[in-house]
Amino acid sequence: MTRSDGHPLKIAMIGTGYVGLVSGVCFAEIGANVVCVDKNQGKIDTLLKGNIPIYEPGLSELLIKNKERQQIQFTTNLDEAVSQADVVFIAVGTPTSPESGEADLSYVFKAAEEIGNALDGYTVVVTKSTVPVGTNKKVKDIIAKATCQNFDVASNPEFLREGSAVYDFMNPERVIIGTDSPQARELLTRLYDPLCDEGVPRLRTTLETAELIKYGANAFLAAKIMFINEIANLCEATGANIREVAKGMGMDQRIGRSFLNTGPGYGGSCFPKDTLALNLTGKSYGVDLTIVEQVIRSNAERKSEMARRILTKIKPGETLGVLGLSFKANTDDTRESPAVEICQQLLDQGVKLKAYDPKAHLDKDQLQGDFTRVEDPTEVGKDASGLAILTEWAEFKALDFQAIHGKMKKTDFPSLFDFRNLLDPEVQNLQGFEYHSLGSQKMKITSSQPLTLAG
Ligand code: UGA
Repeated sequence: MTRSDGHPLKIAMIGTGYVGLVSGVCFAEIGANVVCVDKNQGKIDTLLKGNIPIYEPGLSELLIKNKERQQIQFTTNLDEAVSQADVVFIAVGTPTSPESGEADLSYVFKAAEEIGNALDGYTVVVTKSTVPVGTNKKVKDIIAKATCQNFDVASNPEFLREGSAVYDFMNPERVIIGTDSPQARELLTRLYDPLCDEGVPRLRTTLETAELIKYGANAFLAAKIMFINEIANLCEATGANIREVAKGMGMDQRIGRSFLNTGPGYGGSCFPKDTLALNLTGKSYGVDLTIVEQVIRSNAERKSEMARRILTKIKPGETLGVLGLSFKANTDDTRESPAVEICQQLLDQGVKLKAYDPKAHLDKDQLQGDFTRVEDPTEVGKDASGLAILTEWAEFKALDFQAIHGKMKKTDFPSLFDFRNLLDPEVQNLQGFEYHSLGSQKMKITSSQPLTLAG
């Protein structure tokens, strides 16, 4: 991946959040010279020491390796990084604006202005942040106002998932290159050469199409999750089993098995924000996105429904043991985590919580009420009247549920709510529990070889 003079392409990555940091490190790994820029001096200091401020499997090793071979640098000096770059990526946050629910683009526009002021020679400015359709045109105007240098703008959305971000970057299913400029298209195509050798399609589109591909994909996946959650409800009412239903549905290639895992609703830093923003984009163009709107409503209702189910068994003043707080497994992220939201609803009702999560990062006061975090997962059972699994960490499958049961308040068949369908009563010894999974009927587990349907 070289320039016409044979030197490696130089990249400035603006923003060192999940997308920026993972992309920066991975571009370095595939041969580019990368400078990651962030305004937050503390973050840059952490990265300069070879530490990463987030938990992301595999990222730390790649960062250290590429730092050592001087393929990646970290700085707060945007001007210097941009002036030397062939390609500048904007990977700053686009959080939900609290007033309107729209994506807050102020960080993107500020970055565009600063990039415009710093450009020196032809540069391609690429947006990786998820931005509503039409944003890149505005980015182009902002840069044009700030510079008389030659530049092009492109949209190159990222599809990586937290928890498997490095793998996703290195093994893309497709690369979207949205730009009207043949020169920018050629340069970005070259940048992705090392990842696209074996038949990975590079879809070349306009700016607007690339922007909408990202939102369309995330909203569709969110809809798929909420759809299977509805079918799970119907399974509970009819005696069908969602695990088998999802398997059978997923065998149809037009449907596919992934994203058919029923759960407590979707969370994280992307789906909740992107579905809201897409819905509002639709409204601003006079286009009703009724399915997206319903998905947003169903997701909010799903979390309340999970809390209600627990409250039928656990009364105010009683203790619930909670396994999992992050929004999904293999990440420390608790942004918009269904687990956290369900916990808060229970705390609001006076339930006491004793929670364990191997990695989740919780801010002080993120949860208000009688909440204790324990370091040993079996401790969640202490004096608890019930248990709830809210995040699907694989390590929970190996827990000794009999040891946890032994620490619980002595009641007949305390409830175990498995809202991730993580356990299998045929595999884990859940004897003595009333087991409530999603999308199948609850069972009283009376022996280590069960199974009795609970009345
Ligand atoms: C999501 C997309 O999957 C990525 O492709 C995209 O790049 C990213 O957003 C983004 O826009 O940056 P991520 O938010 O990391 O990635 O997490 P997902 O793995 O998609 O999970 C999102 C939520 O859906 C989680 O709460 C998860 O538990 C839930 N989920 C997922 C289910 O409830 N069921 C499923 O079958 C799958």
